[in-house]
Amino acid sequence: MRFSSNIEKLEPSATIAVSTLAKRLAAEGHDIINLSAGEPDFDTPVFIADAAVRGIRDGQTRYTPPAGTPELRKAIAAHLTERAGRDMSWEGVVVTAGAKQSLFNAIFTLFGPGDEVLIAAPYWTTYPDLVTIARAEPVAVFGAEANDFKLSIADLEGAATERTRGLIVNTPSNPTGAVYSAAELQEIAEWCRDRDVWLLSDEIYRCIHHDGDAPAPGLLDLPEGSLGPHVLVDGASKSYAMTGWRIGFSYAELEVTRKFVALQSQITSNAATPSQVAALEAFSNRAAAAVSLAEMGAAFRRRRDLVCTTMRELLPDLPFVRPQGAFYVYFRVDGLFGDEVRDATTWCSELLRREGVALVPGAAFGDDRWVRMSIASSDQQLTDALNRIAAMVGAGSAA
Ligand SMILES: Cc1ncc(COP(=O)(O)O)c(C=O)c1O
Repeated sequence: MRFSSNIEKLEPSATIAVSTLAKRLAAEGHDIINLSAGEPDFDTPVFIADAAVRGIRDGQTRYTPPAGTPELRKAIAAHLTERAGRDMSWEGVVVTAGAKQSLFNAIFTLFGPGDEVLIAAPYWTTYPDLVTIARAEPVAVFGAEANDFKLSIADLEGAATERTRGLIVNTPSNPTGAVYSAAELQEIAEWCRDRDVWLLSDEIYRCIHHDGDAPAPGLLDLPEGSLGPHVLVDGASKSYAMTGWRIGFSYAELEVTRKFVALQSQITSNAATPSQVAALEAFSNRAAAAVSLAEMGAAFRRRRDLVCTTMRELLPDLPFVRPQGAFYVYFRVDGLFGDEVRDATTWCSELLRREGVALVPGAAFGDDRWVRMSIASSDQQLTDALNRIAAMVGAGSAA
Protein backbone atom coordinates (compact mmCIF):
# COMPACT_ATOMS: atom_id res chain seq x y z
CA MET A 1 0.00 0.00 0.00
CA ARG A 2 1.22 3.49 -0.74
CA PHE A 3 1.34 5.97 2.13
CA SER A 4 2.32 9.61 2.20
CA SER A 5 5.94 10.59 2.69
CA ASN A 6 4.85 12.19 5.99
CA ILE A 7 5.05 8.82 7.68
CA GLU A 8 7.55 7.07 5.43
CA LYS A 9 10.06 6.43 8.21
CA LEU A 10 7.59 6.08 11.04
CA GLU A 11 7.76 3.06 13.36
CA PRO A 12 5.60 2.40 16.42
CA SER A 13 7.26 3.49 19.67
CA ALA A 14 9.86 0.81 20.51
CA THR A 15 9.24 0.96 24.24
CA ILE A 16 5.49 0.52 23.79
CA ALA A 17 6.12 -2.44 21.45
CA VAL A 18 8.08 -4.41 24.09
CA SER A 19 5.59 -3.61 26.80
CA THR A 20 2.70 -4.74 24.56
CA LEU A 21 4.41 -8.08 23.81
CA ALA A 22 5.09 -8.67 27.51
CA LYS A 23 1.44 -7.94 28.35
CA ARG A 24 0.30 -10.36 25.66
CA LEU A 25 2.53 -13.15 26.97
CA ALA A 26 1.28 -12.52 30.52
CA ALA A 27 -2.34 -12.63 29.29
CA GLU A 28 -1.56 -16.02 27.69
CA GLY A 29 -0.59 -17.31 31.12
CA HIS A 30 3.22 -17.00 31.02
CA ASP A 31 5.00 -15.97 34.21
CA ILE A 32 6.24 -12.56 33.10
CA ILE A 33 7.95 -9.81 35.09
CA ASN A 34 7.34 -6.77 32.94
CA LEU A 35 9.95 -4.10 33.63
CA SER A 36 9.61 -2.44 30.25
CA ALA A 37 6.91 0.14 30.89
CA GLY A 38 7.55 3.83 31.37
CA GLU A 39 5.00 4.53 34.04
CA PRO A 40 4.73 4.60 37.82
CA ASP A 41 3.16 1.47 39.28
CA PHE A 42 1.06 3.56 41.70
CA ASP A 43 -2.58 4.47 41.24
CA THR A 44 -3.42 8.12 40.76
CA PRO A 45 -3.75 9.63 44.27
CA VAL A 46 -7.35 9.52 45.46
CA PHE A 47 -7.64 13.28 46.05
CA ILE A 48 -6.93 13.81 42.35
CA ALA A 49 -9.28 11.10 41.12
CA ASP A 50 -12.06 12.38 43.41
CA ALA A 51 -11.73 15.89 41.98
CA ALA A 52 -12.19 14.51 38.46
CA VAL A 53 -15.30 12.55 39.47
CA ARG A 54 -16.78 15.67 41.10
CA GLY A 55 -15.94 17.65 37.98
CA ILE A 56 -17.69 15.18 35.70
CA ARG A 57 -20.78 15.20 37.91
CA ASP A 58 -20.73 19.01 37.94
CA GLY A 59 -20.83 19.04 34.14
CA GLN A 60 -17.19 19.85 33.41
CA THR A 61 -17.40 17.72 30.31
CA ARG A 62 -17.40 20.22 27.46
CA TYR A 63 -14.71 21.76 25.30
CA THR A 64 -12.31 24.14 26.98
CA PRO A 65 -10.08 26.65 25.15
CA PRO A 66 -7.47 24.68 23.14
CA ALA A 67 -4.65 25.73 25.47
CA GLY A 68 -6.54 24.52 28.55
CA THR A 69 -8.71 26.18 31.17
CA PRO A 70 -7.40 29.50 32.47
CA GLU A 71 -7.65 28.04 36.02
CA LEU A 72 -5.30 25.19 35.22
CA ARG A 73 -2.90 27.35 33.24
CA LYS A 74 -2.80 29.82 36.15
CA ALA A 75 -2.20 27.04 38.69
CA ILE A 76 0.72 25.74 36.60
CA ALA A 77 2.07 29.27 36.11
CA ALA A 78 1.95 29.81 39.89
CA HIS A 79 4.24 26.78 40.32
CA LEU A 80 6.59 28.03 37.64
CA THR A 81 6.64 31.53 39.15
CA GLU A 82 7.52 30.12 42.55
CA ARG A 83 10.39 28.11 41.08
CA ALA A 84 11.75 30.84 38.86
CA GLY A 85 11.37 33.65 41.38
CA ARG A 86 10.06 35.85 38.58
CA ASP A 87 6.64 36.27 37.04
CA MET A 88 5.82 33.49 34.59
CA SER A 89 2.79 34.51 32.55
CA TRP A 90 -0.06 32.00 32.60
CA GLU A 91 -0.54 32.71 28.90
CA GLY A 92 2.83 31.08 28.22
CA VAL A 93 1.43 27.76 29.45
CA VAL A 94 -0.21 25.38 26.96
CA VAL A 95 -1.90 22.31 28.42
CA THR A 96 -1.57 19.28 26.13
CA ALA A 97 -2.62 15.63 25.88
CA GLY A 98 0.48 14.41 27.71
CA ALA A 99 3.97 15.85 27.56
CA LYS A 100 4.33 14.02 24.26
CA GLN A 101 1.97 16.45 22.58
CA SER A 102 3.91 19.41 23.97
CA LEU A 103 7.04 17.94 22.42
CA PHE A 104 5.23 17.42 19.14
CA ASN A 105 3.91 21.00 19.18
CA ALA A 106 7.38 22.38 19.85
CA ILE A 107 9.27 20.22 17.35
CA PHE A 108 6.70 20.63 14.58
CA THR A 109 6.48 24.38 15.11
CA LEU A 110 10.19 25.12 15.39
CA PHE A 111 11.95 22.71 13.02
CA GLY A 112 11.53 21.68 9.41
CA PRO A 113 13.35 20.52 6.28
CA GLY A 114 17.05 21.36 6.28
CA ASP A 115 17.23 21.79 10.06
CA GLU A 116 19.35 19.61 12.30
CA VAL A 117 18.21 18.95 15.85
CA LEU A 118 20.73 17.69 18.38
CA ILE A 119 19.37 15.11 20.79
CA ALA A 120 21.18 14.24 24.01
CA ALA A 121 21.75 10.49 23.79
CA PRO A 122 20.91 7.92 24.93
CA TYR A 123 17.52 9.51 24.32
CA TRP A 124 13.88 8.83 24.96
CA THR A 125 12.81 6.88 21.91
CA THR A 126 10.21 9.38 20.68
CA TYR A 127 12.44 12.43 20.14
CA PRO A 128 14.14 11.38 16.89
CA ASP A 129 10.84 10.21 15.45
CA LEU A 130 9.13 13.51 16.20
CA VAL A 131 12.01 15.36 14.56
CA THR A 132 11.70 13.08 11.54
CA ILE A 133 7.93 13.65 11.35
CA ALA A 134 8.74 17.37 11.16
CA ARG A 135 11.10 16.44 8.25
CA ALA A 136 14.07 17.82 10.11
CA GLU A 137 17.14 15.72 10.85
CA PRO A 138 17.74 14.21 14.29
CA VAL A 139 21.42 14.13 15.35
CA ALA A 140 22.16 11.96 18.39
CA VAL A 141 24.94 13.34 20.61
CA PHE A 142 26.36 11.01 23.24
CA GLY A 143 28.07 12.36 26.32
CA ALA A 144 30.88 10.36 27.94
CA GLU A 145 29.88 7.11 29.63
CA ALA A 146 32.09 8.13 32.57
CA ASN A 147 29.94 11.25 32.93
CA ASP A 148 26.70 9.22 32.93
CA PHE A 149 26.31 10.30 29.28
CA LYS A 150 25.64 13.92 30.24
CA LEU A 151 26.63 16.32 27.48
CA SER A 152 29.61 18.62 27.73
CA ILE A 153 30.13 21.72 25.63
CA ALA A 154 32.86 19.84 23.74
CA ASP A 155 30.29 17.16 22.82
CA LEU A 156 27.95 19.83 21.50
CA GLU A 157 30.70 21.63 19.61
CA GLY A 158 31.67 18.34 17.97
CA ALA A 159 28.12 17.75 16.72
CA ALA A 160 26.92 21.23 15.76
CA THR A 161 26.89 22.52 12.20
CA GLU A 162 25.57 25.70 10.64
CA ARG A 163 22.25 23.85 10.20
CA THR A 164 21.82 23.13 13.92
CA ARG A 165 18.55 24.71 15.03
CA GLY A 166 17.71 22.87 18.23
CA LEU A 167 18.88 20.78 21.15
CA ILE A 168 16.66 18.42 23.15
CA VAL A 169 17.75 17.56 26.67
CA ASN A 170 15.93 15.48 29.24
CA THR A 171 16.78 15.70 32.92
CA PRO A 172 16.32 13.48 34.89
CA SER A 173 16.98 11.31 31.86
CA ASN A 174 15.00 8.47 30.45
CA PRO A 175 16.71 5.96 30.07
CA THR A 176 19.81 6.70 32.21
CA GLY A 177 18.36 8.48 35.25
CA ALA A 178 21.24 10.97 35.04
CA VAL A 179 20.49 14.44 36.42
CA TYR A 180 22.24 17.59 35.22
CA SER A 181 23.39 19.96 37.95
CA ALA A 182 22.23 23.58 37.63
CA ALA A 183 25.78 24.54 36.66
CA GLU A 184 25.93 21.91 33.89
CA LEU A 185 22.53 22.96 32.62
CA GLN A 186 23.52 26.61 32.66
CA GLU A 187 26.56 25.94 30.47
CA ILE A 188 24.37 24.13 27.97
CA ALA A 189 21.72 26.86 28.06
CA GLU A 190 24.38 29.52 27.43
CA TRP A 191 25.82 27.52 24.55
CA CYS A 192 22.34 27.39 22.97
CA ARG A 193 21.75 31.10 23.66
CA ASP A 194 25.07 32.09 22.08
CA ARG A 195 24.39 29.99 18.99
CA ASP A 196 20.73 30.97 18.74
CA VAL A 197 19.74 27.31 19.01
CA TRP A 198 16.34 26.37 20.49
CA LEU A 199 16.71 24.54 23.77
CA LEU A 200 13.90 22.06 24.45
CA SER A 201 14.10 20.87 28.02
CA ASP A 202 11.97 17.86 28.90
CA GLU A 203 11.60 17.92 32.68
CA ILE A 204 8.80 15.38 32.99
CA TYR A 205 10.73 13.42 35.69
CA ARG A 206 11.79 16.54 37.62
CA CYS A 207 9.93 15.60 40.80
CA ILE A 208 11.35 12.07 40.82
CA HIS A 209 14.78 12.99 42.13
CA HIS A 210 16.50 10.47 44.39
CA ASP A 211 19.49 12.47 45.58
CA GLY A 212 18.48 15.63 47.37
CA ASP A 213 15.29 16.91 48.96
CA ALA A 214 14.26 19.21 46.13
CA PRO A 215 13.14 18.39 42.59
CA ALA A 216 15.94 18.07 40.05
CA PRO A 217 17.34 21.33 38.64
CA GLY A 218 15.63 22.61 35.50
CA LEU A 219 15.65 25.62 33.21
CA LEU A 220 13.74 27.80 35.64
CA ASP A 221 16.44 27.40 38.25
CA LEU A 222 18.92 29.17 35.97
CA PRO A 223 19.53 32.92 35.86
CA GLU A 224 17.16 34.39 33.28
CA GLY A 225 20.05 35.88 31.31
CA SER A 226 21.52 32.44 30.60
CA LEU A 227 18.46 31.43 28.60
CA GLY A 228 18.11 32.00 24.89
CA PRO A 229 15.14 30.69 22.90
CA HIS A 230 13.71 27.78 24.85
CA VAL A 231 10.69 25.61 25.54
CA LEU A 232 10.11 23.89 28.84
CA VAL A 233 8.09 20.66 28.80
CA ASP A 234 6.63 19.03 31.89
CA GLY A 235 3.37 17.42 32.96
CA ALA A 236 1.41 15.37 35.44
CA SER A 237 2.03 11.86 34.05
CA LYS A 238 5.04 10.78 36.07
CA SER A 239 4.97 13.02 39.15
CA TYR A 240 1.33 12.31 39.99
CA ALA A 241 1.01 8.80 38.53
CA MET A 242 -1.40 10.15 35.90
CA THR A 243 -0.08 8.58 32.69
CA GLY A 244 -3.53 7.60 31.41
CA TRP A 245 -5.09 10.99 32.05
CA ARG A 246 -2.88 12.57 29.37
CA ILE A 247 -1.91 15.92 30.84
CA GLY A 248 1.32 17.67 29.92
CA PHE A 249 2.23 21.29 29.41
CA SER A 250 4.74 23.53 27.72
CA TYR A 251 6.02 26.94 28.72
CA ALA A 252 7.41 29.28 26.09
CA GLU A 253 7.34 32.93 25.12
CA LEU A 254 3.97 34.22 23.95
CA GLU A 255 4.69 34.46 20.24
CA VAL A 256 5.71 30.79 20.21
CA THR A 257 2.86 29.76 22.46
CA ARG A 258 0.35 31.26 20.05
CA LYS A 259 1.71 29.00 17.30
CA PHE A 260 1.49 25.93 19.55
CA VAL A 261 -2.13 26.79 20.31
CA ALA A 262 -2.98 27.32 16.63
CA LEU A 263 -1.43 23.93 15.77
CA GLN A 264 -3.14 22.13 18.61
CA SER A 265 -6.50 23.77 17.85
CA GLN A 266 -6.38 22.14 14.40
CA ILE A 267 -5.36 18.71 15.64
CA THR A 268 -6.73 17.69 19.02
CA SER A 269 -8.10 20.90 20.59
CA ASN A 270 -8.04 20.80 24.37
CA ALA A 271 -6.69 18.01 26.57
CA ALA A 272 -9.63 16.02 27.99
CA THR A 273 -11.67 18.28 30.24
CA PRO A 274 -12.08 15.89 33.22
CA SER A 275 -8.33 15.29 33.11
CA GLN A 276 -7.76 19.03 33.31
CA VAL A 277 -10.00 19.14 36.39
CA ALA A 278 -7.90 16.35 37.92
CA ALA A 279 -4.66 18.14 37.06
CA LEU A 280 -5.95 21.39 38.55
CA GLU A 281 -6.36 19.56 41.86
CA ALA A 282 -2.87 18.00 41.54
CA PHE A 283 -1.27 21.39 40.88
CA SER A 284 -3.28 23.44 43.37
CA ASN A 285 -3.85 21.20 46.40
CA ARG A 286 -0.26 21.67 47.52
CA ALA A 287 -0.53 19.88 50.87
CA ALA A 288 -2.05 16.67 49.47
CA ALA A 289 0.28 16.72 46.46
CA ALA A 290 3.33 17.03 48.72
CA VAL A 291 2.28 13.92 50.65
CA SER A 292 1.86 11.87 47.43
CA LEU A 293 5.12 13.10 45.96
CA ALA A 294 6.99 12.25 49.16
CA GLU A 295 5.47 8.75 49.37
CA MET A 296 6.16 7.87 45.75
CA GLY A 297 9.59 9.51 45.87
CA ALA A 298 10.60 7.45 48.92
CA ALA A 299 9.49 4.22 47.21
CA PHE A 300 11.47 5.02 44.04
CA ARG A 301 14.57 5.93 46.06
CA ARG A 302 14.35 2.71 48.08
CA ARG A 303 13.99 0.64 44.90
CA ARG A 304 16.86 2.46 43.24
CA ASP A 305 19.06 1.56 46.21
CA LEU A 306 17.81 -2.03 46.25
CA VAL A 307 18.42 -2.56 42.53
CA CYS A 308 21.87 -0.95 42.54
CA THR A 309 22.99 -3.00 45.56
CA THR A 310 21.59 -6.23 44.16
CA MET A 311 23.14 -5.60 40.76
CA ARG A 312 26.56 -5.05 42.30
CA GLU A 313 26.14 -8.29 44.21
CA LEU A 314 24.66 -10.52 41.49
CA LEU A 315 25.95 -9.00 38.31
CA PRO A 316 29.25 -7.36 39.30
CA ASP A 317 30.57 -7.31 35.74
CA LEU A 318 27.70 -5.35 34.26
CA PRO A 319 28.37 -1.61 34.06
CA PHE A 320 25.33 0.52 34.89
CA VAL A 321 24.46 4.15 35.45
CA ARG A 322 23.46 4.76 39.06
CA PRO A 323 20.28 6.76 38.51
CA GLN A 324 19.80 10.02 40.38
CA GLY A 325 16.26 10.48 39.13
CA ALA A 326 13.37 9.01 37.08
CA PHE A 327 12.65 5.29 37.54
CA TYR A 328 14.96 3.32 35.30
CA VAL A 329 18.28 1.54 35.57
CA TYR A 330 20.33 1.51 32.38
CA PHE A 331 22.92 -1.23 32.13
CA ARG A 332 25.36 -2.55 29.60
CA VAL A 333 25.11 -6.10 28.32
CA ASP A 334 27.52 -6.31 25.38
CA GLY A 335 29.96 -8.20 27.63
CA LEU A 336 27.40 -11.04 27.52
CA PHE A 337 27.07 -11.21 23.75
CA GLY A 338 28.24 -14.31 21.90
CA ASP A 339 27.90 -15.91 18.48
CA GLU A 340 24.11 -16.09 18.62
CA VAL A 341 23.43 -12.92 20.57
CA ARG A 342 25.06 -9.90 19.01
CA ASP A 343 22.88 -7.05 20.18
CA ALA A 344 20.69 -6.06 23.10
CA THR A 345 17.53 -6.57 21.06
CA THR A 346 18.32 -10.29 20.70
CA TRP A 347 19.55 -10.47 24.29
CA CYS A 348 16.23 -9.01 25.54
CA SER A 349 14.21 -11.44 23.38
CA GLU A 350 16.20 -14.32 24.87
CA LEU A 351 15.64 -13.00 28.37
CA LEU A 352 11.91 -12.70 27.77
CA ARG A 353 11.69 -16.15 26.19
CA ARG A 354 13.89 -18.00 28.70
CA GLU A 355 13.33 -16.18 31.97
CA GLY A 356 10.12 -14.19 31.40
CA VAL A 357 11.69 -10.79 32.16
CA ALA A 358 10.79 -7.91 29.84
CA LEU A 359 13.34 -5.09 29.51
CA VAL A 360 13.75 -2.53 26.73
CA PRO A 361 16.76 -2.98 24.42
CA GLY A 362 18.99 0.02 23.95
CA ALA A 363 18.18 0.19 20.24
CA ALA A 364 15.19 2.22 21.42
CA PHE A 365 17.54 4.76 22.99
CA GLY A 366 20.28 4.89 20.37
CA ASP A 367 22.76 2.22 21.57
CA ASP A 368 21.96 -1.48 21.30
CA ARG A 369 24.67 -2.56 23.73
CA TRP A 370 22.59 -1.38 26.67
CA VAL A 371 19.19 -2.21 28.16
CA ARG A 372 16.72 -0.31 30.31
CA MET A 373 15.00 -1.79 33.30
CA SER A 374 12.08 0.02 34.91
CA ILE A 375 12.17 0.10 38.71
CA ALA A 376 8.50 1.05 38.92
CA SER A 377 7.68 -2.34 40.37
CA SER A 378 7.58 -4.05 43.77
CA ASP A 379 10.79 -4.89 45.66
CA GLN A 380 9.99 -8.58 45.26
CA GLN A 381 9.50 -8.36 41.50
CA LEU A 382 12.71 -6.38 41.12
CA THR A 383 14.69 -8.89 43.16
CA ASP A 384 13.11 -11.82 41.27
CA ALA A 385 13.90 -10.18 37.94
CA LEU A 386 17.55 -9.66 38.88
CA ASN A 387 17.78 -13.26 40.05
CA ARG A 388 16.37 -14.43 36.74
CA ILE A 389 18.83 -12.26 34.83
CA ALA A 390 21.66 -13.63 36.96
CA ALA A 391 20.41 -17.16 36.27
CA MET A 392 20.52 -16.51 32.54
CA VAL A 393 24.02 -15.12 32.66
CA GLY A 394 25.12 -17.94 34.97
CA ALA A 395 25.71 -15.99 38.18
CA GLY A 396 24.40 -16.25 41.78
CA SER A 397 21.08 -15.42 43.49
CA ALA A 398 19.67 -12.98 46.08
CA ALA A 399 16.84 -13.65 48.56
C1 LIG B 1 11.37 11.56 28.73
C2 LIG B 1 9.90 11.48 28.50
N1 LIG B 1 9.27 12.57 28.03
C3 LIG B 1 7.95 12.55 27.80
C4 LIG B 1 7.20 11.42 28.03
C5 LIG B 1 5.74 11.43 27.69
O1 LIG B 1 4.97 11.81 28.76
P1 LIG B 1 3.39 11.79 28.63
O2 LIG B 1 2.92 10.44 29.01
O3 LIG B 1 2.94 12.87 29.57
O4 LIG B 1 3.04 12.11 27.22
C6 LIG B 1 7.81 10.27 28.52
C7 LIG B 1 7.04 9.03 28.74
O5 LIG B 1 7.54 7.95 28.86
C8 LIG B 1 9.20 10.31 28.77
O6 LIG B 1 9.85 9.24 29.26
